[in-house]
Amino acid sequence: MSLLRDRPATRIVASDGAFRTRMLGIAAGVDDLIALGRGDPDFHTPAHIVEAAKAALDANHHHYTGPTGIQPLREAIAVDLAARYGLDYAADEVIVTAGAQEGIMLTMLGLCSPGDEVLITSPRFTSYDSAVELCGGTPVPVPTFEDDDFALDVAEIERRITPNTRMFVLVSPNNPTGAVTPPAAIRAIADLAIRHDLLVIADEIYGQLIYEPNEHLSIATLPGMRERTVTLNGFSKSYAMTGWRVGYLAAPRELVEMLTEPRHTLSINTSTISQYAALAALTGPQEPFEAMLAAYAERRAWLMPALTEAGFTYGHPGGAFYIYTNVASTGLAAPDFCERLLRDTGVMVFPGTMFGDESTDYIRISYLQPLPLIREAVGRITAFAAARGARTGS
Ligand SMILES: Cc1ncc(COP(=O)(O)O)c(C=O)c1O
Repeated sequence: MSLLRDRPATRIVASDGAFRTRMLGIAAGVDDLIALGRGDPDFHTPAHIVEAAKAALDANHHHYTGPTGIQPLREAIAVDLAARYGLDYAADEVIVTAGAQEGIMLTMLGLCSPGDEVLITSPRFTSYDSAVELCGGTPVPVPTFEDDDFALDVAEIERRITPNTRMFVLVSPNNPTGAVTPPAAIRAIADLAIRHDLLVIADEIYGQLIYEPNEHLSIATLPGMRERTVTLNGFSKSYAMTGWRVGYLAAPRELVEMLTEPRHTLSINTSTISQYAALAALTGPQEPFEAMLAAYAERRAWLMPALTEAGFTYGHPGGAFYIYTNVASTGLAAPDFCERLLRDTGVMVFPGTMFGDESTDYIRISYLQPLPLIREAVGRITAFAAARGARTGS
């Protein structure tokens, strides 16, 4: 045991997953828990998708598929990307992956070499850091700030470009801030990528979860960008399918060909049953998705003024299902705030430090509970903060 522990491969970097584990451990012992921590929808997967998975089982789809996925799903993804975002990918330019997560790792395995620097919108989904580091590269955060709603500033990207910069990871809407990068900024990023010869990884997993008047623009639709972009997406967030582990990447055919063998090495193929479920998600009725989106919109519309009224500030989220909220006024650093809030009130939220934020001022609230529970949670958070205010004398 200790022999193996003492001989990790050089690519393994120490990381501290202890905080998340501790929070989940505390949460397991809380009776009236309100979980607003993880990015996992409270809705169940729509019934017609579940039925399609059952039908796939009954039809004996119990076997391996090709490593890039079943053809009808790859076709449906290509059709959906064209219809929804105006993207131009053929079915054989799609690789179905085990969640967008595997798409991230596969993309980095294919494109990130030791010594490469990878720019990424920050605060951020830190699996990117891990994937880049496993490939010997260096993640370079591009900070965003509350005073402009965590908008991505193209000058901040450009300032960090060095001769080693290989690519930029654009996550819009972003996790944990919900910030949507507007079309004008996407165009500026495209110009920058072309000028500096950068690759772009466009993580559009929240691309369907956009609130008016925000707009999503897929960067690979812009002139000169298709050949330098990998578009990542998945079913977890839009169709409440986190446990099915199905996502995809779309990229020019030559890259898909190069990534097919590594993709086979990772897990051979995405669960066959899940692929049939995903096919139903795209080709079946979209009303269940629209109903979930409407519920998220209603929760967001209630939550923003409620937080303001409770004395908190935040970046206005244009998409996803998160509000990145400033808790500095409580006098507690975010990890401490989250742990005490959970112990004292049963409300679980995550600190911004889990998303690579160097500031300890922020928490991410996932509005992934029914509105009455969100109301109850905000009541508990407000009382908790008020008690802290009394203690800190502020
Ligand atoms: C920005 C981003 N990309 C990718 C993922 C991974 O999603 P999946 O469940 O499709 O693997 C997540 C999950 O939270 C995410 O927030």
